[in-house]
Amino acid sequence: MDKIIVLDFGSQYSHLICRRIRESNVYCELLPYNTPIKTIIELNPNGIVFSGGPASVYENDSPKPDKKIFDLGIPILGICYGHQIIVDQYKGRIKRVKSREYGNAILKIKDKDSLFKNIKTDKIQCWMSHSDSAEIIPNGFDILGETTNSISAAIGNREKKIFGIQFHPEVAHTEKGTEILNNFSHIISEAKPDWNMSNFIEKAIENIKLKVGGEKVLCAVSGGIDSTTTAVLIHKAIKDNLTCIFVNHGLLREDEENIVKELFNDKLGIPVKYIEAQDRFLQKLKGISDPEGKRKIIGEEFARVFTEFAENEGPFQWLAQGTLYPDVIESGVSKGPATVIKTHHNVGGLPDWLNLKIIEPLRDLYKDEVREVAKILAVPKELLTRHPFPGPGLAVRIIGEVTDEKIRITKAASKIVEDVLTEDNIYNKVWQAYAMVGDDKAVGILGDERIYGYIVTIRIVESIDAMTADWVRIPYDTLEKISSKITNDVENVTWVTYAISSKPPSTIEPQ
Ligand code: XMP
Repeated sequence: MDKIIVLDFGSQYSHLICRRIRESNVYCELLPYNTPIKTIIELNPNGIVFSGGPASVYENDSPKPDKKIFDLGIPILGICYGHQIIVDQYKGRIKRVKSREYGNAILKIKDKDSLFKNIKTDKIQCWMSHSDSAEIIPNGFDILGETTNSISAAIGNREKKIFGIQFHPEVAHTEKGTEILNNFSHIISEAKPDWNMSNFIEKAIENIKLKVGGEKVLCAVSGGIDSTTTAVLIHKAIKDNLTCIFVNHGLLREDEENIVKELFNDKLGIPVKYIEAQDRFLQKLKGISDPEGKRKIIGEEFARVFTEFAENEGPFQWLAQGTLYPDVIESGVSKGPATVIKTHHNVGGLPDWLNLKIIEPLRDLYKDEVREVAKILAVPKELLTRHPFPGPGLAVRIIGEVTDEKIRITKAASKIVEDVLTEDNIYNKVWQAYAMVGDDKAVGILGDERIYGYIVTIRIVESIDAMTADWVRIPYDTLEKISSKITNDVENVTWVTYAISSKPPSTIEPQ
């Protein structure tokens, strides 16, 4: 399959480059900047993008790719810091500008033969974020575009097919950014635009058959779109050699267990085994308030439940998981210099004593791509539109120790949030919406009595892929409805607050 690879030098936008290229139907993978040259050659990409990054090329330990990458004859596009790597490699000169150029700039296009082909205008708004700039451009390179502060905002060596741009084409603020990336992937790198979800499904089913052969697969389903789509794909490939289990860890959304049983058994025609495990999970979580500690306990207990089930009902050779690409990136598996944010329990977190091989057919996909796959596979619509729900469930929406009281409160309050948003036609327009609760309490009045009850916080965010998110500007009337329903109907809640932090710096879940 034709593909572009993006080498990640630590920019917060690296994954966005990857998404934009995939949106133009070319498969694209994000890899650490120091990926061995042997791996790159094996991957045989049509083109390579160097992402931006916070470093400066003249710092001693600044991240650099293997120099042999420039001799492969594969087209390269350097963005921001990636641009400077190219200038440095070909003996140009970078200077540190006094004032960091940050925000919008006007790019004057000087050459429309390569990166800017078919762009009708001569000037475009572009988004800059850098403090280094090319002062002397290397021999063999032409200036393709300039801004007031940067005479070499876009340069290129057409013969070598190596290009550098100082601005970020991947962010929405850059006009024609998608066209610029398309020109690089479709025209300069000659990658065929054959990445679409129907092709993906065909290949995924083929791969599962090849990988698994006649062996047995165990798949834990949660009722979410990721594990459901994983199960449907695997079921299509190997039919009865797939066994699905649904573990009730006591941290589910309201009525989730019945919704899931009905979805699998009746609507999808895939039998699911239900495991009642609430007590053992909640017992293990007693006294634990650290977020990573809770995730670890839940991950391990899940693994233990699977192992016991596998021993009793097996043998199984494989464990299927609905891991997605952002989980892989955020868990630091494919990251270059960036830091790990949260360990998502389903990536690389399984203990050694679990003797099952892992199969993750959605590992390369973003959430919106999974939705498309599910749609093609005729997964019921109500599941497609259901908000994502984290594997460790309410444990990450309860701040501090998980107690029966806090479970009762988040469950009931979250149901109210979902119901009101559905009623007001907002549910399907937002990424996630729920109620969280911690240990903070505030005084309220119930009838004539003063009570000291819990503070519930509502979190409603919009997002494209959960990598970044913004809080939704919900109409006051809707917030008012949610707030009064919660304080009226959920016992022992006195205050309702609304979370107004975006990601970054916050995350979507509080724990
Ligand atoms: P954060 O909180 O990291 O969430 O901004 C990003 C997305 O991932 C979900 N999430 C998780 N999913 N295991 C999961 O399977 C986890 O431990 C976990 N933590 C967060 C979250 O709901 C959001 O959609």
